[in-house]
Amino acid sequence: MLICVPDILSKAQVAEFRRIMDAAEWEDGRATAGAQSARVKHNEQLPPQGEVARELGRRILGALSASPRFISAAIPLRVFPPLFNRYAASGGHHFGIHVDNAVRGDPHTGLRIRTDLSVTLFLSEPEDYDGGELVIEDHYGSHEVKLAAGHLVLYPATSLHMVTPVTRGSRVASFFWLQSMVRDAHARSLIFDLDTAIQGLVGRLGHDDPETVKLTGIYHNLIRTWAEL
Ligand code: NI
Repeated sequence: MLICVPDILSKAQVAEFRRIMDAAEWEDGRATAGAQSARVKHNEQLPPQGEVARELGRRILGALSASPRFISAAIPLRVFPPLFNRYAASGGHHFGIHVDNAVRGDPHTGLRIRTDLSVTLFLSEPEDYDGGELVIEDHYGSHEVKLAAGHLVLYPATSLHMVTPVTRGSRVASFFWLQSMVRDAHARSLIFDLDTAIQGLVGRLGHDDPETVKLTGIYHNLIRTWAEL
């Protein structure tokens, strides 16, 4: 399931990110790619251990923890420090079809996670570049994603995906992975759908409606059944 979460960053925050990123040093994206993906990865990235990536990554983690929709969709256990990439038309940048590594380790913190979900947070407005679609394949076909700056998409890290060539301008984004408390994608999507329905009921009936209280109990008991900490 693909889930979009709008407005993780405000337009002012995005502008501040871009001001800092545009002044930073970038490196070849293949520095952190696995053997298969290095052959198809053509982009630039901020050095993952650099202070700029670390500081902006911390800001993103703070924004994620304040987003009920992100938490409901991901049920995050551990989030990998966000990385940043740039695809420029002048470099002919793109990223061919691949699957992300199953396990990611961060040498800086010693954090190691199983990558259940992949996340792309868009930091360029769609009208500022052509191409650069994130294409995600699942059992229902192939889906193109290109969101407004400050919005993110969550998708299963098990998916084949690619970024199409940028043919005008440049596409800047943050990307990262997370390990969910609920490993099974189907279980996770049931919990998300239930939570979304409960929030709709709370909006109409308030928090004290007896059936809504029962459904909220079921929500927590499903998490109790499936959560691995
Ligand atoms: Ni990838």
